[in-house]
Amino acid sequence: MHYPYQIKSQQQYENDYALSIKNPKEFWANVAQHFTWFKPYDTVLNWEFNTPDVKWFEGGKLNITYNCLDRHAATHPDKVAFIFEPNDINQRTQKITYAQLLQQVSQTCYALQSIGVQKGSRVIIYMGMVPQLAITLLACARMGAVHSVVFGGFSARAIADRVADAKADFIVTCDAANRGAKHVLLKEIVDDALLHVDVKKVLVYKHAGINVNMKPDRDVWLHDIQNKLQVQSLPLFQPVVMDAEDMLFILYTSGSTGKPKGVVHTCGGYMVWVAYTFVNVFQYKPGQIFFCTADIGWITGHSYLVYGPLLAGATSLMFEGIPHYPDAGRLWDIVDKHRVEVLYTAPTAIRSLMAAGLDFVKDKNLTSLKVLGTVGEPINEEAWHWYHKYIGNGNCPIVDTWWQTETGGILISNLAGITPHKPAHATTPLPGVQPILLDDQGKEVTGNNVSGNLCIKFPWPGMLRTTYGDHERCRQNYFATYAGYYFTGDGCMRDAEGHYRITGRVDDVLNVSGHRLGTAEIENAINTHQGVIESAVVGFPHDIKGQGIYAYVIYQGDDVDAQANIAITVSNMIGAIARPDKIQLVAGLPKTRSGKIMRRILRKIAEGEINQLGDVTTLLDPTIVDDIKNNRQ
Ligand code: WTA
Repeated sequence: MHYPYQIKSQQQYENDYALSIKNPKEFWANVAQHFTWFKPYDTVLNWEFNTPDVKWFEGGKLNITYNCLDRHAATHPDKVAFIFEPNDINQRTQKITYAQLLQQVSQTCYALQSIGVQKGSRVIIYMGMVPQLAITLLACARMGAVHSVVFGGFSARAIADRVADAKADFIVTCDAANRGAKHVLLKEIVDDALLHVDVKKVLVYKHAGINVNMKPDRDVWLHDIQNKLQVQSLPLFQPVVMDAEDMLFILYTSGSTGKPKGVVHTCGGYMVWVAYTFVNVFQYKPGQIFFCTADIGWITGHSYLVYGPLLAGATSLMFEGIPHYPDAGRLWDIVDKHRVEVLYTAPTAIRSLMAAGLDFVKDKNLTSLKVLGTVGEPINEEAWHWYHKYIGNGNCPIVDTWWQTETGGILISNLAGITPHKPAHATTPLPGVQPILLDDQGKEVTGNNVSGNLCIKFPWPGMLRTTYGDHERCRQNYFATYAGYYFTGDGCMRDAEGHYRITGRVDDVLNVSGHRLGTAEIENAINTHQGVIESAVVGFPHDIKGQGIYAYVIYQGDDVDAQANIAITVSNMIGAIARPDKIQLVAGLPKTRSGKIMRRILRKIAEGEINQLGDVTTLLDPTIVDDIKNNRQ
């Protein structure tokens, strides 16, 4: 196995980048030819950013799982596709080869088919980090069903919202997930969700051995169906022929307004993009063990734990548990035990393990590591240097990968060992990516040593195509702020050498421990609590989480524990990840005469900068600010 599209030098990066801008169609046609297409595409790219309407490899027929599985099972069946490291240190590691993975995916396809799943069906997947989760994604993709994974930390209400929005008829779940010392009762949470919304079938995978209620006619055990069908003796389930622009998956993510939106990715472009970026950013070499610590419930898990590595025929390590269980040395134990060569994790994990101290690192053999990566939020320099020095032993390049659920894969990052790294900088765009900085008036910010709002001016194969069921929302969110550009929602600096540094969101989206949350979404949850009149949520700097959640709430009930109970409401409505760190009960919110909440002031107070509030004279009632300042949490 070798990767003809792997960039081998800085010079080649520069040449490829130039070519990808000058002649994008030729460039991507060259990359796309290294995949198996059942029928070649007619056109490489058709696009406009107003509606928007973006199509890559139109007319091409493929199945991404053929490229992930069948190809490799034919040439190296015994190569390990997944190494599974259980939560419990006393349980055995599992290794699944490409041949076995293909078989298991095929067997799951039969089970899904027998409950009625077919091409185009939407399937909500709510499971722990177990191999069957990856297998279920791949089985959906093989049958042409659209998977929509819901992170196992989200609440019943969040599942119900996604089932309704995706108009999903099916849920696949587990009895329970093992997370640290706890069981998360996934099936029970699904049962709660189904008090609010209906599905035809719930397929349950037995993992933790917990008793669950099975509703007759609706709930079925995966193993029961597979036994009944005698899947072991059935022939390989053949991949359904998909159009390049058929939907592959929906993944819900938070924006600055309203409920989470279903970001839609399609088969052909996503495949090309994640394989290309995986091989180039991490400079993956055949045989290496790649460990991405992200949960498959997030885009990072989709692209760099499942699809990217499998497309490259790599060995991907999947970890069921959490970095602090049984102690803060767990990730380093895994690296040591499996001789991991590439480690990809989030700054929040690095900061929390750094805080736990070097005792957890010192006896671990981390010499196998060649490349380190970070994703999900800006990395502060202190964490970067700690990661570089203590985990990478001072000699591993760190790739600081900037991207989003909407971008499908990495857009801006250095290439490990090929282009230079720089602490806290994502550095340079991947071939095909054309970043541009715009000021608030939409004027291009040119030159270096500047900052602006990060936009992208040309399509790349892995970009979102729409938001499910609401194309206008996609236009509004991403293509309307700056006409003709994709707007990322991020602020960005370009340094003296032209390297990009992402500074964080410029909209009302928070990044809490690398998890994306909309302030509007948290406010909506708070506002459902009885006695709450109004609320405003802002972020504040947090040493470990990157950002914490600060909620200002006008409350007129008589509950003495209102703050604690409001926090519980948020956990119930969204999930524990959205629980505010601080809740301040206030008499009023600072509003302009036109009734708009002045979040700038609330942010400053949350940050503790109470003497730098700027001009408050435009407020309807400036005295409110003193009251809020005096009662700051
Ligand atoms: C932030 C995660 C700085 C950014 C893949 C983006 C980053 C949001 C980086 C997307 C990085 C991601 N440096 N910030 N390397 N990577 N972000 O959709 O604000 O969960 O808009 O995708 O995370 O989060 P999402």
